[in-house]
Amino acid sequence: MKRLLISLACFGVFLIFFVSCYYDNEEALYPTLTNTCDTTNVTYSVTIAPILSNNCTVCHSGSAASGGISLTSYSSVQTVASSGLLINALTGSGVPIMPISGALSACKVTQVRIWIKAGMLNN
Ligand code: HEC
Repeated sequence: MKRLLISLACFGVFLIFFVSCYYDNEEALYPTLTNTCDTTNVTYSVTIAPILSNNCTVCHSGSAASGGISLTSYSSVQTVASSGLLINALTGSGVPIMPISGALSACKVTQVRIWIKAGMLNN
């Protein structure tokens, strides 16, 4: 009986050890490793164009672009951005949120805002 109690106690200690380690994953311990948002080196070619080609141009390109809006060239993106429509679409303000499947990460929206605020350069 005593042995059983001891082994149960050992098992309990083990269990607590495992449960307490559950959240010890890299992401939780070092959020900056995976959640860095580069807000200083935002350029059209490195930051903005990839965001749009990865999330938008599947619908917004070519002659049959959704909503009549193509987001494949700098000049068309610049036009949509300067009218305010780009940010409105990314935030769902007054128009359906884009992408339709759900908002982009806050980081990406912030990067688009930064690029617009800096003058929408073709850099
Ligand atoms: C799955 C297809 C799809 C994807 C992906 C998509 N869109 Fe759209 N988008 C549409 C459709 C369809 C409309 C037209 C909606 C309407 O007029 O009701 C639209 C409309 C728009 C408009 C015009 C809004 C208006 O009412 O004038 C903008 C701006 C826009 N999208 C930007 C984006 C951006 C930026 C992305 C990527 C972050 C994106 N879209 C991703 C399908 C898509």
